[in-house]
Amino acid sequence: MASYKNIVVLTGAGISAESGVSTFRDAGGLWEKHRIEDVATPEAFARDPDGVQNFYNMRRAQLFSVEPHAAHHALARLERDLDGQVTIVTQNVDNLHERGGSQNIIHMHGELAKVRCLSCYQIFDWLEDCDQQTPCPLCSRAPALRPHIVWFGEMPFEMDRIERLLYECDLFISVGTSGNVYPAAGFVSAVRSRAVAHTIEVNLEPSEGASFFAEKRHGLAGDLVPLLVDELLS
Ligand code: APR
Repeated sequence: MASYKNIVVLTGAGISAESGVSTFRDAGGLWEKHRIEDVATPEAFARDPDGVQNFYNMRRAQLFSVEPHAAHHALARLERDLDGQVTIVTQNVDNLHERGGSQNIIHMHGELAKVRCLSCYQIFDWLEDCDQQTPCPLCSRAPALRPHIVWFGEMPFEMDRIERLLYECDLFISVGTSGNVYPAAGFVSAVRSRAVAHTIEVNLEPSEGASFFAEKRHGLAGDLVPLLVDELLS
């Protein structure tokens, strides 16, 4: 394995599956139990704010019953021990990368453990329930707080920084994403347009974008990511 100096790791729900966090499009996934248009769009929040707050309260509460697993810990080891830069760009809104020890993380779809005020725009760390009666800790207004989550139809966070990272990286690894949702699904093509970077897909099964990856490793993230990190650090 060549020695890489600037690695970008895109992660999706599949890296959290072995921790017990539901994915979205697998059998039994979240979008089998809830309609996106009912819980994950600005229109849904305008129409049924209590229903949307409850959906995220349920998912936020789940954070207390799941733990990071070997794949999260391996990525933290890669960031710590690589003689170079490792950036995790995650579509996941759970806090398992942080709890697994990673520090250089971009949550492009937001975070369950944060809420933001629609009145004063402040963002707050938040681990308990939140509803329309919950006052903003800063400006005291209610209703004012919403999940700090990127809903369908909203712009993902830190896209300029992500695009620059994709342009500069020499290795792009994708772990546990189905390649169904843009812009994340298009990241591999942005990297492939530069012949100098290598691309690896680690996923339970070939994703929608599998053909764009120079290398594919299919199986459980908990098995494959630690092995890949061992190779990258050897
Ligand atoms: N190890 C590796 N890959 C796995 C595992 C596992 N243990 N379990 C599932 N997978 C793979 C599945 O094969 C699937 O390809 O993870 C992928 C999960 O795909 P999705 O459920 O579509 O999740 P994701 O790709 O993260 O969704 C992207 O869509 O709904 C929106 O905002 C939401 O961030 C999410 C985005």
